Amino acid sequence: MSTPIAPASGKLGILLPGMGAVATTTIAGALLVRGGHAAPVGSLTQMGRLALDDDRGATRPLLREVVPLASLDQLRFGGWDIFPEDAHEAATSAGVLDGRDLARIRGEMLSLKPMKGVFYPGYVRRLHGTHVKTAPSKAAMVEQVRDDIRRFKAEQGCERLVAVWCASTEVLQSPSATHATVHSFEKALAESSADVSNAQIYAWACLQEGVPFANGSPNLCVDFPAAVELARLRGVPVAGKDFKTGQTLLKTAIAPMLKARLLGLRGWYSTNILGNRDGEVLDDPDSFRAKEATKLGVLEQILEPALHGHLYGDFVHKIRIDYHPPRGDAKEAWDSIDLFGWLGYPMQLKIDFQGRDSILAAPLVLDLALLLDLARRAGRSGPQEWLSFFFKSPMVTAGAHENDLFVQRRMLEGVLRALAERG
Ligand SMILES: NC(=O)c1ccc[n+]([C@@H]2O[C@H](COP(=O)([O-])OP(=O)(O)OC[C@H]3O[C@@H](n4cnc5c(N)ncnc54)[C@H](O)[C@@H]3O)[C@@H](O)[C@H]2O)c1
Repeated sequence: MSTPIAPASGKLGILLPGMGAVATTTIAGALLVRGGHAAPVGSLTQMGRLALDDDRGATRPLLREVVPLASLDQLRFGGWDIFPEDAHEAATSAGVLDGRDLARIRGEMLSLKPMKGVFYPGYVRRLHGTHVKTAPSKAAMVEQVRDDIRRFKAEQGCERLVAVWCASTEVLQSPSATHATVHSFEKALAESSADVSNAQIYAWACLQEGVPFANGSPNLCVDFPAAVELARLRGVPVAGKDFKTGQTLLKTAIAPMLKARLLGLRGWYSTNILGNRDGEVLDDPDSFRAKEATKLGVLEQILEPALHGHLYGDFVHKIRIDYHPPRGDAKEAWDSIDLFGWLGYPMQLKIDFQGRDSILAAPLVLDLALLLDLARRAGRSGPQEWLSFFFKSPMVTAGAHENDLFVQRRMLEGVLRALAERG
């Protein structure tokens, strides 16, 4: 892979299935930063530096100066939602950004209207979409989304596109025989099988159109064998799943510290309250189970109880999410950690993270879009394991995934350094 990376020329379209709190905070943020009104805090592509092995290593240049990324000026946004509100209205009701910030970009946000969404309601039972497509089959639904993608690209004059799933969490689903091969999945689409969810329809359409796809939710979306096969056939990079923004981000930073100091763990109790639409959707036990599945695995993988039986052989890990409307997007996450030290003496660590969900997620959406576009221009396809840094339950090509934030960071930097040499 020593061929040069194709330049980031022309416009890059960022397509967001789901134009709710996270998506509109991302779009508004990119516009505000572009206009010089705010700083892109939290974004690796905008603020991050990269240590290089050559003589520039001492100065640690900005990442965007050494790898060819699209600039904010080149971005065009679009997306789908099952409600018709434009981005200004959706951002206003999400209540993340204040009126003064939204007023600065009002015109651009008003002009951003979502395309009609794909919505078979069984996968997100708390929502009753009104702005939805109809089609005789799920295969025909894929074709409609493909038409949307082509139309958006032509109307916006984009050279390339990339998609990041920012729509609601669907009910927990495991891959079945339907998801095994491109052939079996295409057959299921033609038969409108219940195994094929909304998220999978968008992802399939994007892959068929050669659009790199990142999955920000816990949904089964591009992380099944048929989708990986199609991604490879079409030369499309994919990544997922579930943005790592809050409690799991903390967990995957603190657990490596416990292990590095050989401090034992008896229990880790995590509870969250949030009051946004995401919280409402997660109030459905089956949607919560999808979220719980991506959150639960991280401690075991990092702490390796099989190797450290005395320290981590018998800990209890519990996670709760409670929908509490007064909180809106300003979520609160408590961790109560029972640990033990020298001679087994018990201790406790308490964390109260008063975060803002979409403020934490928006820079990740931007970074994933720009890095997947880079990956595509660099000729990479299939699951992009080096992007594990951004996810609670990272997609891998084979074997177990890596959750340790610092190991993930090293993986990311390793690939970026190799790309910097080619750029
Ligand atoms: N920190 C974070 O905010 C964070 C972290 C990890 C994961 N996530 C995930 O990101 C996603 C978005 O979170 P949010 O806070 O913006 O939620 P949100 O409810 O504000 O926005 C989701 C939007 O998706 C729309 N939608 C639902 N089904 C759709 C479909 N089939 N097609 C098109 N649109 C559809 C909804 O109408 C809504 O506008 C959720 O899945 C959430 O679990 C968020």
